[in-house]
Amino acid sequence: MEKLLKELEKRKKINQGQDAQKRIDAQHKKGKMTAWERIDALLDKGSFSEINPFMTSRVTDFGMDKKRVSGDAVITGFGTINGRKVYLFSQDFSLLGGSLGEMHAEKIVRIQDMAIANQCPLIQLNDSGGARIQEGILSLNGYGKIFRRNALGSGLIPQLSLILGPSAGGAVYASGLSDLVFMVRGVSRMYITGPDVIKKVAGEEIGHEELGGADVHAQQSGVAHFAFDTEKECFETVRKLLAYLPQSTLEYPPLTAEIHDFSEDETLNSIVPLDPEEAYDVHEIVERVFDAESFLEIHEEYAMNVVVGLARLYGQPVGVVANQPEFMAGVLDINASDKIARFVRFCDCFNLPIINLIDTPGYLPGSTQEFDGIIRHGAKILYAYSEATVPKIVLIMRKAYGGAYIALCSRDMAYDRVLAYPCADIAVMGADGAVGIIFRKDIASADNPEERREELKRQYMEKFAGPYLSASYGLVDQVIAPSQTRSQLHFALDSVLEKSEIRPDKKHGNIPL
Ligand code: HXC
Repeated sequence: MEKLLKELEKRKKINQGQDAQKRIDAQHKKGKMTAWERIDALLDKGSFSEINPFMTSRVTDFGMDKKRVSGDAVITGFGTINGRKVYLFSQDFSLLGGSLGEMHAEKIVRIQDMAIANQCPLIQLNDSGGARIQEGILSLNGYGKIFRRNALGSGLIPQLSLILGPSAGGAVYASGLSDLVFMVRGVSRMYITGPDVIKKVAGEEIGHEELGGADVHAQQSGVAHFAFDTEKECFETVRKLLAYLPQSTLEYPPLTAEIHDFSEDETLNSIVPLDPEEAYDVHEIVERVFDAESFLEIHEEYAMNVVVGLARLYGQPVGVVANQPEFMAGVLDINASDKIARFVRFCDCFNLPIINLIDTPGYLPGSTQEFDGIIRHGAKILYAYSEATVPKIVLIMRKAYGGAYIALCSRDMAYDRVLAYPCADIAVMGADGAVGIIFRKDIASADNPEERREELKRQYMEKFAGPYLSASYGLVDQVIAPSQTRSQLHFALDSVLEKSEIRPDKKHGNIPL
């Protein structure tokens, strides 16, 4: 037995890379942590348990029989984060470039199946050159199995993808299919084909970071939900984020201790300017209304005209959707529509109530938006909110015009409670545009057209400005002082927290993708 145990220890050592200082150094030289270091940094200390460490490739072509590595360049297993179980895989770029062959894929598939069967989050730590070229169709098949499980697990368990090196070719779609994508500047590269192939095929010269770095995906493509300067910050945020989520759709998000302080915050009375054209930063409201330092922004640098993220309200995890008047006046354009719709569906999957903070002039007009499909993309917001069965609370802070009012505030979209500030302005459109259309002839024939226009604008605003007309129709439930926002949102949420909505059975809806 002693001999056998020695053999076991030796094999374990090989898997853990203890005898491969050169590979570890190479990884560090690239500014990256090793696959094992990442697991240690992400999980609760000593909680990781590895699965299938001895699986290895059986392919012999192209000299692969001499390159076999135990574990096949990926570590799979489970452990805990803040005491709650998660399943994960961590690709080892220092072995075969972390490339995905048949057994590498089988190991990932097994961990996906376990995460789904046990209803626990799945965390994918990607650092890979993509499909292992030497294994041909077996590699491609492996990706097919993984993608299918990503799709089947979607909405059932949270799936997080951390891009911690190259994620090229097939590898990008396991991340593209997951709920949230995390990237690290200078470390992560994500593209379906790298710069070399692009140069050959399209003659275009572009660097790795410019093509698929963290900033590109966090700011331009919207593929990444988070971008960090270091891997450590990335792991810290993953740990923080999971604390807002249930383990699966079958559970409710975990509550933290309730805070029973319903005092008013007078500062809130002076944040939203009465002048509808004046900008302000909606973060100032979010930071004051939700539990201290609980707001975790998602997609912070993408479509900044809207702000979305997770927060706690008196200990209850919620999803927050807010217009950002400081950026493009908080208008809804194509990217903002995608950002909101995806976030709302994420919240609905994981039983997070949604709170909308509204101040928007509406959908963005213009030929570029029309040509690029604002109708199709804007419809996603309508679809996502209509489909969502979690509690939905709205606070109309100032402007709520036209389609954006319908999408984000209207009773008929099944918002459970609609609150408004006294300065709320709910209309088909702003006064300027409205009088220009309905009083065009009247203005044109006036002795002083400009004076007449201003007079008609005043009349229009007197009729529609303020929330009281809407409240008299029952379309606004409550008008509140801004200083009471925190407690009033809490009471509104509390009134519908246990609601359930039964929907007729169907295969699935057909969201306008
Ligand atoms: C087999 C691979 C590999 C791969 C890297 N390696 N990618 N082996 N299959 N896909 C190996 C290299 O041969 C090398 O082995 C080691 O990993 C490290 O790679 P380097 O090139 O030396 O590292 P680096 O300079 O850091 O460049 C990393 C890289 C580059 C940018 C990822 O390796 C690269 O461009 N790889 C190919 C990426 C790609 O196009 N993948 C798409 C595959 S097709 P040695 O033995 O020399 O150390 C695909 C289709 C699926 O995924 C589509 C599904 C939808």
